[in-house]
Amino acid sequence: MPTLLITGANRGIGLELTKQYLEQGWDVHACCRKPKKAKELAKLKQENKKLSIHKLNVTKEKQMDKLKTVLKNKAIDMLINNAGVYASEASKFGQTDEKSWEEAVAVNLLAPMKMMEAFKENVAISDKKIIASMSSKMGSMDDNTSGGAYAYRATKAALNAVMVSAAHDLRHLDITCLILHPGWVRTDMGGPNGEISTQESAQKLRKILDECDISDTGKFYDIDGSIIPW
Ligand SMILES: NC(=O)c1ccc[n+]([C@@H]2O[C@H](COP(=O)([O-])OP(=O)(O)OC[C@H]3O[C@@H](n4cnc5c(N)ncnc54)[C@H](OP(=O)(O)O)[C@@H]3O)[C@@H](O)[C@H]2O)c1
Repeated sequence: MPTLLITGANRGIGLELTKQYLEQGWDVHACCRKPKKAKELAKLKQENKKLSIHKLNVTKEKQMDKLKTVLKNKAIDMLINNAGVYASEASKFGQTDEKSWEEAVAVNLLAPMKMMEAFKENVAISDKKIIASMSSKMGSMDDNTSGGAYAYRATKAALNAVMVSAAHDLRHLDITCLILHPGWVRTDMGGPNGEISTQESAQKLRKILDECDISDTGKFYDIDGSIIPW
């Protein structure tokens, strides 16, 4: 059975993707900042031995190095860079909070880049060979009709640029790099007015991930499978 490595798996979309891939029989390496407090993941682990929980704050290089050692030589069919922050303190014009910007850059942009660098070999020796990063339509210039959300929009747009470069650079390894918009989802980040549930989002994301191949590398997918303009 295939293997998934996913960040930010203790709640929201990451938790639901973890659940659904486990239901499909996958081995899942689910990363979270505080495993001891990740009650939902702990419950899943009791029910399913195919789940491994790892401590990973994606901004902590030592923790990433440790995970790299733990997973050395293990095939990872799919790496999903899911962890993300909205950086609401760096959202409004005239209210730029530098720390909030720095966190957004570290989590939304640098961490997916470093995860790809750390686990590229694991993905390259797998069958499916997929790296997907959870971006957002809010990173699309074309879709920006309302302004605001400075750090979130900027870091997701930059993440898209990183993923397109990686699509080129990892093509010789037959690795498919995808950029995903999960919809407007009812999570802590998306809020209660989101258009879809985590269940619906994860189902649709899985469909895109199931159906993709190397000819799709570098594409920016909306949740309905259509392409989002940059
Ligand atoms: N919800 C939406 O409508 C929507 C729309 C477009 C894109 N997205 C993207 O989809 C992804 C998941 O969003 P979500 O709605 O599920 O968000 P969420 O409910 O707020 O969950 C965010 C996840 O990221 C983790 N995280 C944050 N900083 C981290 C760090 N430094 N190290 C490791 N993990 C960290 C959180 O861990 P803790 O629990 O430890 O904080 C949590 O597991 C994000 O990349 C987001 O930008 C969401």
